[in-house]
Amino acid sequence: MADRSLTQTEVSLNPASSDMVDITIDGIELSVPKGENIIESARKAGIDIPYFCYHPRLSKGDAANCRMCLVDTASKMPDGTVRKMPKPQTACTLPASPGLIVYTNTEQVFKDRRGILEFLLINHPLDCPVCDRGGECPLQNNTIFYGASSSRYTEEKRHYPKAYPLSTHVVFDSERCIQCARCTRFSEDISGDAQLALLKRGADAHIGTFAHTEYNSKFSGNVIELCPVGALTSRSYRFKARPWDLQTQNSICSRCSNGCNIKLDYRMDSVVRVNARLNEAVNEEWTCDKGKFGHDYISSPDRLTTPLLRNGTEFQPISWGQAYQLLVAQLKKAGGHAGAVGGGRCTNEDNYMLQKLFREQLKSTHLDSRWLPAPAAAGDTLYNRTGFRSMGMSIADLEDKKAIFVIGSNLEDEQPIIFLRVRKAWRFKQVNVVYAHSHVSGDSVSVADFASPLLQYKAGSELDLLRGVLLSLLSGNPDGSAKLTPPVAGSVSSWSLDDIVAATGIDSSVFADAAAALRCGPAAIVAGSALQLSPHYGEAVDLMEAILAVLDSPGNLAVPVLECN
Ligand code: SF4
Ligand code: SF4
Ligand code: FES
Repeated sequence: MADRSLTQTEVSLNPASSDMVDITIDGIELSVPKGENIIESARKAGIDIPYFCYHPRLSKGDAANCRMCLVDTASKMPDGTVRKMPKPQTACTLPASPGLIVYTNTEQVFKDRRGILEFLLINHPLDCPVCDRGGECPLQNNTIFYGASSSRYTEEKRHYPKAYPLSTHVVFDSERCIQCARCTRFSEDISGDAQLALLKRGADAHIGTFAHTEYNSKFSGNVIELCPVGALTSRSYRFKARPWDLQTQNSICSRCSNGCNIKLDYRMDSVVRVNARLNEAVNEEWTCDKGKFGHDYISSPDRLTTPLLRNGTEFQPISWGQAYQLLVAQLKKAGGHAGAVGGGRCTNEDNYMLQKLFREQLKSTHLDSRWLPAPAAAGDTLYNRTGFRSMGMSIADLEDKKAIFVIGSNLEDEQPIIFLRVRKAWRFKQVNVVYAHSHVSGDSVSVADFASPLLQYKAGSELDLLRGVLLSLLSGNPDGSAKLTPPVAGSVSSWSLDDIVAATGIDSSVFADAAAALRCGPAAIVAGSALQLSPHYGEAVDLMEAILAVLDSPGNLAVPVLECN
């Protein structure tokens, strides 16, 4: 595991408290949460403060980089007089406080914005005609609204190599970068791989990866959407379309079961781009790279579009009519002996039609939906025990817990958006995360990077691992046993922690640490494929439920399915 020095942060995504304060923006009196960011307060009053570096889901960190959000401010004093602040303030770092008066439309504010844009454009290339951001670029828009029509700077602009690939998916054009640090903050705050950094300082400052290695984040596509200019663009979308050429269809990503809300942008019947669509309960505004870039197959020239009939070792193209005739003839011949496998990669409608065809037309009941080894697909095992088939809570609910126990999953690959939510809970809400898995990936990011403790158990010892955690939770907790179901309560006395330590390879003190980390309030368990594919899946569900019962968190079990439906 790489040492990425990732730390929990005291930065809150929403620092506003529940106390309300009275402020005034452009003469409009507002009551807003104390500490609320003035850009957000102004938005509520229908007032638009322009910005580049601010983003509500990113920590402020070393932000206030762009200065685009400058406003004039004053304070209402107790004696009723108004004291004006001598200098403009950045609205993105200005918290709402009692009596604050904000002016966003004074002559000085407009002059400040013109000046800031003039600075930002000193080194910005006039690339708009060939920039993929053109037409949907905040820098372009703000310059049109607030910028001067010409610049006083006539010096040679700074030059960097144009448009080099930063990763498999992302192209970087350093000349266009305005150093807002949104991408670096995403990398640190959200994806957690912390690969992007603002290198060097002053006129040499530029974005890059440490040691100029490839940017191999599993969530790299999000920085394309976050970048307020055309510095980070998509390699697959490059020069494919302009925003006004595109039609957009809302959709749901089907690459995994997280169900990210997405927008499919298409041009001339080809999907050219996938962007995230806001859904606070699911993906917020993120996607993983599998979902964002895994659409090339739709219009790939390699895609099979004509049925092929096997003829010995050769394949012979045939028409769809011929293909259906052959298929129907074969199915009729098999009749009630024909079989079909639908499954979690098909829609409900597809599966419904499939069974209807087989049951009603062919009189066959040989139907299945399981592509994976039986225990994994046996949602029934979970359903019969818990009453739900996959998730006992929503993805967003994970944030409200005090502890999350992730077991048997390389979450960043299996359930990328759940991974981001678990990481957000840890980083921004100080939630304890305990991680148990037999194989900890050495990938760019993993739950192992931030979980404490990490229980890396011997492969196949999942049940012992769960027993060890349960025993440690029951130790010194006389009331705990009363919360267990009779079958689990009956077997606890036969377990030996020494045997469990030998079976799992995990020291008893680590089990005790895990129990301490979990025993701090409402907890949740997220279980992955190692449990779902285990032949002991049912027992594992019983044990996870027992752990949650002892933690007074019944039902907070998430066993996200491995296919999209
Ligand atoms: Fe900001 Fe884009 Fe530059 Fe990153 S690359 S600092 S997001 S302008
Ligand atoms: Fe698609 Fe899953 Fe990635 Fe979301 S997390 S974009 S649903 S593959
Ligand atoms: Fe406030 Fe950039 S948005 S300084």
